[in-house]
Amino acid sequence: MRTWPVDRVSFGGDYNPEQWPQELWPADVALMQEAGVNFATVGVFAWSWLEPEPGRFEMGWLDQVLDLLQEGDIAVDLATGTASPPPWFSHRYPDTLPVDVDGRTLWPGGRQAWCPSSPVFTEHALRLVEQLATRYHDHPALAMWHVSNEYACHNLPCYCDVSAAAFRTWLTARYHSIEALNKAWGTAFWSQRYSSFDEVLPPRRTPTIGNPTHALDFARFGSDTLLDQFTAERDLLHRLSPGVPVTTNFMTSDHFRLLDYHKWGSEQDVVSTDHYLMGALDDPEAELSFTADLTRGVAGGRPWLLIEHSTSAVNWQPVNVAKAPGQMLRNSLAHVARGADTLGFFQWRASRAGAEKFHSALLPHAGTDTRLWREVCELGAVSARLGEVVGSRVESQVAILWDYQAGWACEQPAHPSGELEYGQVAHDVHAALRALGVTADVVHPDDDLSAYRVVVVPTLYLCSDESAAAVAAAAERGAHVLVTYFSGIVDGNDHIRLGGYPGAFRDLLGVWSEEFLPLRPGRVVALDDDSTGTLWTEHLHADDATVVARYADGPLPGVAALTRRDVGAGAAWYLATRLDPAAMRNLMAELVEEAGATATADVPAGVEAVRRVGEGGSWLFLLNHTDEEVSVPATGYDLIAQHSVDGAARLGPGGSAVLRQA
Ligand code: GLA
Repeated sequence: MRTWPVDRVSFGGDYNPEQWPQELWPADVALMQEAGVNFATVGVFAWSWLEPEPGRFEMGWLDQVLDLLQEGDIAVDLATGTASPPPWFSHRYPDTLPVDVDGRTLWPGGRQAWCPSSPVFTEHALRLVEQLATRYHDHPALAMWHVSNEYACHNLPCYCDVSAAAFRTWLTARYHSIEALNKAWGTAFWSQRYSSFDEVLPPRRTPTIGNPTHALDFARFGSDTLLDQFTAERDLLHRLSPGVPVTTNFMTSDHFRLLDYHKWGSEQDVVSTDHYLMGALDDPEAELSFTADLTRGVAGGRPWLLIEHSTSAVNWQPVNVAKAPGQMLRNSLAHVARGADTLGFFQWRASRAGAEKFHSALLPHAGTDTRLWREVCELGAVSARLGEVVGSRVESQVAILWDYQAGWACEQPAHPSGELEYGQVAHDVHAALRALGVTADVVHPDDDLSAYRVVVVPTLYLCSDESAAAVAAAAERGAHVLVTYFSGIVDGNDHIRLGGYPGAFRDLLGVWSEEFLPLRPGRVVALDDDSTGTLWTEHLHADDATVVARYADGPLPGVAALTRRDVGAGAAWYLATRLDPAAMRNLMAELVEEAGATATADVPAGVEAVRRVGEGGSWLFLLNHTDEEVSVPATGYDLIAQHSVDGAARLGPGGSAVLRQA
């Protein structure tokens, strides 16, 4: 057994040797060494190779793979292989297949075809984990356990009868009595009152809109159920393989919000995640930065592992955009800048067959005489030079609050506007701060807010009294708090807070709203400070706040759109429309300045600046996302170019620098 390497930023990826002839394996290891790879995640989808028939385990091939990797000095992140059961499993136990909202079975033939609530699945998964842990707990290559893979990616929510029974058990533990459930779900509405837990079903397809609290609880149940699957494997690994860290790879990108990663984060020995650029976004790299900051929040501020990303194109988007020369390095450094200490990729060798054969890899189909391979080798070399950064923390004076459960509630149907998505304005705020060179932590409302100078509450639709009180306390203490539209509307049961919106924050902000007037798609409303808004307006009364800007036209000319109230040593701002990007930048610049927060560096447009700080020093990451050469005032030693920078860091088009500073 070895520890996870800390003398460098670890570099490697998923290695699926079962897809290739055994004769190729030594060449794989040699090429890994050539590329500077120092870890491999092995066996993620190998269950049918490890247990080809029920109860018959075949692990000789894995012995060989681990021995080869050990000889090559490559640490192993050993998967438990439980992400996808073999065909014999679903053939034998068809009741373990997941079922969608319309009652359709999701059949085997892809991956992850198992019901999250299935005790039969758990039993078989743990049997495999026991075999692996018993056999490999003291293998010298083993450095980490990788449980399952991207929990929930394809099999949640499941609406089958097994899930229905498990949901009832979960509800009984939560509410104890059916009266309490009726109250929480507001079942006086539409004759939904239950007389027993036995009558409760998953929120399957209904003739019209279902009960939103029912749906919210089902989302909570789904996340908790898979977390139980994870902790069952983790606990067994801790028992049979003590001292080896255990993780499972999250999907913290915003297009995936099925699990409450804040609950999951504290159950990991180390948080790891996957990230893929979304080609359809206006600025995919802004989303990368947000997701990295969110992952750090999920990890409690500690360094985390980027266990998968791509060297170039993926295979599962409508158009799979290839990365430009240099972009893989820049994207990788963006993750490291924001707290990643490991750079993993899917996958080592591009598959020859199967659904992912057009997904990029470290070793492309065309082989080593390729631009991609040369860039992979360069990244391997750069990763090795970044050892001193490992373990350091990211500095931030700004918090953006994020809550998966608020998101689930916010996106229920039959709300004022189907155009409003949870996360929209959080990304707007984050992008504005990033453009200003200001780093934000994306954290849960219950996290400690006491150190932040600016606290942003973006569309926190569902909010507990405690969270609202913590936000108010931050303002009292001196923070500048910005609350945006559709926040604090409901309590934890998704019941409206009466007396005017935004209920939970009304007193703090000194405003109240009597009605929402959302805007049609494409409709733009002018504000009297020359900015514009889309998506949202509301009939706001600023009884105890200063009006900073009003709607100049639209449905509510003259009504307050942006307000500010002095609170204790700080201030509380309310924003009642979705500002255009320039206006959002101006607003965030004003808040940052008033709050006495500072930018990491004075950067030109299109350049990202983030600082990591540790006992050994401070490192300024500068990433040039433009096609022009730029110059940033800075002094230090550039770990990438390996030379000193005196007064001005010059970054070529798409170039990056990591400066060690005093
Ligand atoms: C996820 C999975 C991998 C692979 C990649 C493709 O991250 O974990 O197995 O399917 O997506 O992008």
